[in-house]
Amino acid sequence: MKTWIGLMSGTSMDGIDAILVSFDGQKIQVHNTHTTPYPDDIRQRLFNLSQNRGTPDDIGELDHTVGSLFALAAATVIEKSGFQASSVTAIGSHGQTLRHHPDSATPFSLQIGDPTIIAERTGVTTVADFRRRDLAAGGEGAPLVPAFHKTFFSVAGEDRCILNLGGIANITHLPADKNEPVTGFDTGPANALMDAWCLDQTGRAFDKDGSWAEEGEVNQALLGDMLSDAYFLRQPPKSTGTEKFNLEWIKTQLRRHSELSGADVQRSLLELTAVSVAQQLPQATGMTIFACGGGAKNRALMGALQRTCGPARIASTADLGLDPQWVEPAAFAWLASQTLSGKPGNLPEVTGARGKRILGAVYYV
Ligand SMILES: Nc1ncnc2c1ncn2[C@@H]1O[C@H](COP(=O)(O)OP(=O)(O)O)[C@@H](O)[C@H]1O
Ligand SMILES: [Mg+2]
Repeated sequence: MKTWIGLMSGTSMDGIDAILVSFDGQKIQVHNTHTTPYPDDIRQRLFNLSQNRGTPDDIGELDHTVGSLFALAAATVIEKSGFQASSVTAIGSHGQTLRHHPDSATPFSLQIGDPTIIAERTGVTTVADFRRRDLAAGGEGAPLVPAFHKTFFSVAGEDRCILNLGGIANITHLPADKNEPVTGFDTGPANALMDAWCLDQTGRAFDKDGSWAEEGEVNQALLGDMLSDAYFLRQPPKSTGTEKFNLEWIKTQLRRHSELSGADVQRSLLELTAVSVAQQLPQATGMTIFACGGGAKNRALMGALQRTCGPARIASTADLGLDPQWVEPAAFAWLASQTLSGKPGNLPEVTGARGKRILGAVYYV
C-alpha cells in the first residue's frame, strides 16, 4: 500500500500539521502525525505579511524559512513512524497562505513554503501549489477539501456536513442522494476573529476552550451588525480569509458598541461563528454535522453550534475515524495522490471553476 504525507498550516498560523497516511478504498490508515509549531518571531512576520505589511525580501526569506519548517515537519513524521523516506510516495504540501483574493480583477491566492526545499531535505517527491490552477480556471481556488470529504465521508442515505473550524470556517454538504451535487464554501470566520480579539485584549494567542468567552454575554445589537456583513449573505461559490476578517474588521464593528466588555465581545464573536454557520446550512432533515479543525476543541463553540444548528446533530470527525486535527492534512496527502495519478482534485460545483482540473505542481526527487 502506498504511503503519503500531508502538510498543512491554515490561516491561524499556529503551526504545521504533518500526517503520514495510506488510503485503501474508503479507508484512511493513519501511520503517524506530528505538529511543528511556528516560532513566535516567524508567526509574527507571517501575520504581518497576511495583513499586507512587509517587503519582497520578507516574502522571499519566509518562503525559505517556512519551506525549511515544512520539510522538518515531514522529516519528523517520517522518523516517528519508523518508515524510510524512500517508501513514501509523495508529500502534498498546502504551504502557508499569505493572501487569498479570488474575487479581485486580478484573482490570486498566494501560498509560500518553498517545495523545492521540502523535496531536497526529505528526499520525497513533493506536490504543492494546489490552489492556482483552479483560480486560473475561473474558480475560487477554495475550498479544496470537499473532494476528499466526498471520497471518504459520504454514505448513501445519510445527509452529512463536514464543518472545518480553522481560522476560517468551511462547510461541505454530502447529500444523502449521491446523485445530488456536493456543495461546499467558506461560511466566514471561525477562530480568526476570536484569536485576533483574544490576542489584542489578553496577550494570549487563543481562548482555550472558549472559557473567556463564557465569562461574557452575547450582545445582540453587535451580533446583528456583524451578521449584516455582505459576505454572510452572498451565494456560493465563495471563499474568504484574514485579509477580510481581522482585528480591523472587529474594530470597525465596535465603533457603535464601545461600551462592551472584552469578554462580551469575545462571546459575541463566538456566537457569530455559530450563527453564521447555522444560517448557511443546507436545508436537510436528519443531518449530522461532523466538526473538525482546532475549533472542534473549543467547548463553548461546540455548545453554541449545538444550540444554533438544531435540529442537525453535532458530532466530531473522530466519529468517522479521523481526529479533527488531521482532516485537512490528510486531505492534502490525498490531493497529492490524485495529482500523481493524473486525477482532478477540485470539485467545479464547489469552487466555480470551468471544469475539473489536476491540481498542483510536482517537484520530483
Ligand atoms: N483547546 C482549544 N480551545 C479553543 N480553541 C482552540 C483550542 N485548540 C485549538 N483552538 C483553535 O484552533 C485554532 C487552530 O486551528 P486549525 O484547525 O489549526 O486552524 P488553521 O487551519 O487556520 O491553522 C487555534 O488558533 C485556536 O483558535
Ligand atoms: Mg493550524
